[in-house]
Amino acid sequence: MTRASVDVLVVGAGAAGMMAAIEAGRRGRRVLVVDHADRPGEKIRISGGGRCNFTNLGCGPANFLGENPRFATSALRRYTQHDFVKRIDKAGIAWHEKTLGQLFCDDSAKQIVRMLTDDMASAGAALNMKTGVERIARSGDGWSATLSDGSLVAAASLVVATGGKSIPKMGATGWAYDVARQFDIRVTETRPALVPLTFEAGLLETLVPLAGVAVDASVASAPEGAKARKASFKEAMLFTHRGLSGPAILQISSYWREGEAVVASMAPGRDVFEELKAAKATNGRQAVHTALGHIVPRRLAESLCVREGASGNLADLSDKVLRRLDQAVNAWGVKPVGSEGYRTAEVTLGGIDTAALDQQTMQAKAVPGLYFVGEAVDVTGWLGGYNFQWAWSSGWAAGQVC
Ligand code: FDA
Repeated sequence: MTRASVDVLVVGAGAAGMMAAIEAGRRGRRVLVVDHADRPGEKIRISGGGRCNFTNLGCGPANFLGENPRFATSALRRYTQHDFVKRIDKAGIAWHEKTLGQLFCDDSAKQIVRMLTDDMASAGAALNMKTGVERIARSGDGWSATLSDGSLVAAASLVVATGGKSIPKMGATGWAYDVARQFDIRVTETRPALVPLTFEAGLLETLVPLAGVAVDASVASAPEGAKARKASFKEAMLFTHRGLSGPAILQISSYWREGEAVVASMAPGRDVFEELKAAKATNGRQAVHTALGHIVPRRLAESLCVREGASGNLADLSDKVLRRLDQAVNAWGVKPVGSEGYRTAEVTLGGIDTAALDQQTMQAKAVPGLYFVGEAVDVTGWLGGYNFQWAWSSGWAAGQVC
């Protein structure tokens, strides 16, 4: 049986693990990174449609959810979005701001993966892919890990960077949570987040004909008594064959809970009643769906008119009907039955309880030498580059001390 001894064993060669490995290696620590997938940084590679939304210019603690969102403050302040941009610039990777502070590679997300693997190599960090961990045990002040190839690794520090449960097809596991439980560290409730929402058959039937329609919407959660889950996002909303998706829905999915409604305004900031009334006064002979089609996409306008029983010309419709249309457009309360789950969720909400971790270093308070970084931790960002920034910042923070 082969035995190796390193200073730092990092499990997970994703964004957070690679960042921790680079920083530890630069400090002269002997680092081994293991990952059971075929290639490192697979989520980076596929993210942002292949261009990776690698950070957000406006990133701050307010863009994160978790039992204690303030936990992220220290790491986010010490390694900021601007620090990561400097790194990208130094590597000669061209980037652009798409919208709402979201930064993407001009060319390919693979450039970021290459930058990280190159940096690991020059920091002397070894990388073993297709290698899982069978067993972790305490060994003196350090760790003993049995790897899937049967070898034993002794390490002073163990960095758990195996992410969350989203997209199991890509190698996601709940391994970080198992390690936490093994050492009596609490794991908060986990659930799929940044995920499309689904609807019961009857409602879905009315939505399916709209598949492919996109609207700029403002979508709000309607939590029952839970103030912390009150949120609204003004972004695109997309009707799909399975229900609703698009950035506004993905964002609100992190705040939504079973049994609750979400409320969509599909012409935010516009007074649909007044606009229809004005149209009625100037051109009462136009069909109501045509008039509404000047406010929302035509297919959506037609569907809403059918649903609200508004047919014929504007001149024939009462204020009451026009008000109903206004409500249907701007206060559409709809109850999802669920979400598409971890199969398509971009992230896992919840994870390692931040109360158990030191916010400067990501080290478990009660288990010296054990670190949790990235998505495994109960820190979940909004859509828009925030989750990668958390992975960079938390990985960097652990890498300074592990
Ligand atoms: P990550 O999941 O990246 O890495 C964990 C690694 O651990 C993986 O390589 C995995 O194989 C390995 N692993 C897991 N279990 C293991 C085990 N038991 N043994 C050994 N290895 C194991 N965020 C963002 O900010 N901007 C964006 O554009 C996107 N886009 C996006 C698209 C899609 C489709 C998804 C699914 C997600 C995103 N995200 C995103 C979210 C982002 O990808 C995510 O937050 C980070 O990748 C988290 O980084 P981590 O390093 O923590 O985990």
